Parts: sequence; structure tokens; C-alpha cells
Amino acid sequence: MKESRIIVALDFNRAHDALALVSQLDPSLCRLKVGKELFAVAGPQLIEQLTHLGFDVFLDLKFHDIPNTVSRACKAASDMGIWMLNVHALGGKKMLLAAREALPKNTTKLIAVTLLTSMDRDDLKDIGLQGEPDQIVQRLALLTQDCGLDGIVCSALETKNLRGIVNHNFCLVTPGIRMADSSQDDQKRVATPSQAIKNGADYLVIGRPITQAINPLAALQQINQEISAM
Ligand code: C5P
Repeated sequence: MKESRIIVALDFNRAHDALALVSQLDPSLCRLKVGKELFAVAGPQLIEQLTHLGFDVFLDLKFHDIPNTVSRACKAASDMGIWMLNVHALGGKKMLLAAREALPKNTTKLIAVTLLTSMDRDDLKDIGLQGEPDQIVQRLALLTQDCGLDGIVCSALETKNLRGIVNHNFCLVTPGIRMADSSQDDQKRVATPSQAIKNGADYLVIGRPITQAINPLAALQQINQEISAM
């Protein structure tokens, strides 16, 4: 099977729980995302365990700081052998360039978060960002691309517009995925795996539909089948 486009979000607060779930998965069927909470409790040791099991790891720490600090943090993270890492595009051009320089191409993939999807127009106004959220996202996506990063995280519903304005090899990583028949949980704007791929997503970040499934491996296989049949 060709490399999986599914990134399973390990949103757990104990290494033990994350590893129990991972023991039911297969590295040929998915990659894994470790975010701030799990990394805060389990750290580099867990990353080493996951990579040792053969999984590609996306370390979702969303770095945002002065360029020198971000550059050094990116290098330290990449040295753990991770597959993908992210920073905030709102850190600006100099920070994005410094992050890129710290991670030579063909090592760890470097992507950026544009706007947090939790922020609405009022939140943006509070911090002095005027304009439509969609347009700000587009501007930040193009800035990220101009700085040579490999892609961005974007919601399933932004994917279609963004695919139309970025280069074909610029990677779109999309959370907010739900099966047609599953609960939306706290996600507001969702797409099915096949809709997201049709809209131009390269990778799908999927948490609860897999991690909380009665049979996580079966759920993963079902999604892989849905998208590989396209
Ligand atoms: O369980 P669920 O599939 O909703 O998990 C989605 C994952 O993607 C979580 O780790 C969440 O933090 C992350 N994410 C998101 N929306 C964004 C960015 C990241 O849901 N805009």
C-alpha cells in the first residue's frame, strides 16, 4: 500500500495510554501526531519509542518565539528523528526563514499553522488583525510558502480555496475529519476523509474517530480504504 495519508492524533495525557492505542495500529497504515499535552508529560522518551516502533511522528508543538529561539528549538526537535514539525506563521517572515534554515529540506518536514481555527473575527480584532479570517489565512499560507516551508495546517473547509492558490507540492494537513455516520464531538466544521482529499488535502489529522473507536485498527483500515478507492 502507498504511504498512508492518515495522521492519528494521540491526544492522551499519559504515555501508557498513548502506547496502548499505538500497539493496536500499524506504521504502514498511519503516522502519529504528538501534541503539547502528551509531549509535556512524556517528552523525547516517548518520541523515541514511537519512532523505534517504525512510526513517522508529527510533533505538533507550534513554535512561536524570536527567530533564534525557534531555530534552535526546531533543530533540537528534528534531532529526535521526527517526520514533521510545525511553527506559527504569525511569528513572521524572519522566524519562518530561521526555522527553515534550521531544518534542511528532505529532513523533518516543516509546516506552519496560519490562524487558529478557534479564533473568530472578534478575537482577531482584539489583537489588531483586521480583515476577513479567510483572507488572513490565505496571506499567511502564501507567506509560509514564500519562506520555503513545506506546507500548512488548514481546516477541511479551507482546503479547497487554498489548494487553488498554493503550489501543487505545498502540503495541506487537515484536521476536523469525521466519518459521515460519526459524532462531530466539539468540531464545528467537519469533512469526511474523501471530501477532504477531494478538496486537495495531502494528510488528514484524525483523533477521536480512531482513538475512541471500539476497534481502532478497523476504523483506520476503513478510512484508508475509503480514500485509497478514490
Ligand atoms: O479528535 P479530533 O479528530 O477532533 O482531533 C483533531 C486533532 O487535530 C486534535 O489533536 C486537535 O488539537 C487538532 N487540530 C484541530 N483543529 C485545528 C488544528 C489542530 O482539531 N485547527
